[in-house]
Amino acid sequence: MDVSGTVAVVTGGASGIGFGIAAALARRGAKVVIADIETERALVAAERLRDEGLEATGVFLDVIDEASWANLAQVAAGHWDQPVQLLFNNAGVGAPGTVHGVSRQTWEWVFKVNVEGVYLGVRTFAPAMLAGGLPCRIVNTASEHALGLPDSVTGGISAAYTSAKHAVMGYSLCMRRDFAGTNVSAGVVCPGPVATDIWNSFRNRHGDFGGPRTLKVEGEVPMSRNLPGTAAGERIVEQVEADDFFIFTNGPNEAAVLEAFTAEATAAMAAFRARYGV
Ligand SMILES: NC(=O)c1ccc[n+]([C@@H]2O[C@H](COP(=O)([O-])OP(=O)(O)OC[C@H]3O[C@@H](n4cnc5c(N)ncnc54)[C@H](O)[C@@H]3O)[C@@H](O)[C@H]2O)c1
Repeated sequence: MDVSGTVAVVTGGASGIGFGIAAALARRGAKVVIADIETERALVAAERLRDEGLEATGVFLDVIDEASWANLAQVAAGHWDQPVQLLFNNAGVGAPGTVHGVSRQTWEWVFKVNVEGVYLGVRTFAPAMLAGGLPCRIVNTASEHALGLPDSVTGGISAAYTSAKHAVMGYSLCMRRDFAGTNVSAGVVCPGPVATDIWNSFRNRHGDFGGPRTLKVEGEVPMSRNLPGTAAGERIVEQVEADDFFIFTNGPNEAAVLEAFTAEATAAMAAFRARYGV
């Protein structure tokens, strides 16, 4: 899909991968709405792009709050008086915890933001996209965690996160099927390790789910050695332009997770068929 001249909404666009996507879109001539719970940072991010002579605006969005989605839809369509053709459901949060040790509050928060946030984005924008008839794309950010379970996940650091990202993958596959034959296409991003602020996600935890907290596990995972968010954004947008459904950022990381999962499941199915003769 040609992104130039389109209006594109990027959730979680104030930081990391989202900002990388926003910058890559704007540099290709898209008009970008940076929507984020960190309003100030979204406004600064949009200004940074405008300083480059690009078209961008920032707006508050809390992906679990329907009223803020409704406001975003109005702002996005009204700012350039043009319908939204691209939605990147990129906002997401990480949280530590084993399968039995993660707190119920954290589990609910991670699923609300990472899964329900994506659903609310689609529910907000898809009807107008389908009714408008213009070429449109909705791209959800899952993770390499949605392709299996990375070996780097040791010490029980991500039961809620990995489970939620598998849900985003399932939802994205359903989107592709539900939108087949229409003007709306779907995509799912499965990033490998990218240098962002994800390890400090609790900074944005809502009061209902325990409130904000500064959590740094950066010592365990040296984020600075990972792919920069801007490089990830460039690659993601290139794959969006190529109309890819599965979208990756790094390569070897995602491939290793996918290959391990596929090999184990394929071997298990072969053993099952041999046992039952089916
Ligand atoms: N960094 C990685 O290695 C990596 C790998 C795989 C997937 N991802 C995914 O990439 C996406 C972007 O994360 P990132 O790594 O750039 O982290 P980040 O923390 O740098 O960016 C996330 C952005 O989402 C925003 N956000 C958080 N909660 C929100 C809410 N309720 N409503 C609206 N905005 C909210 C944050 O303010 C922030 O700007 C996430 O979905 C994450 O799960 C990241």
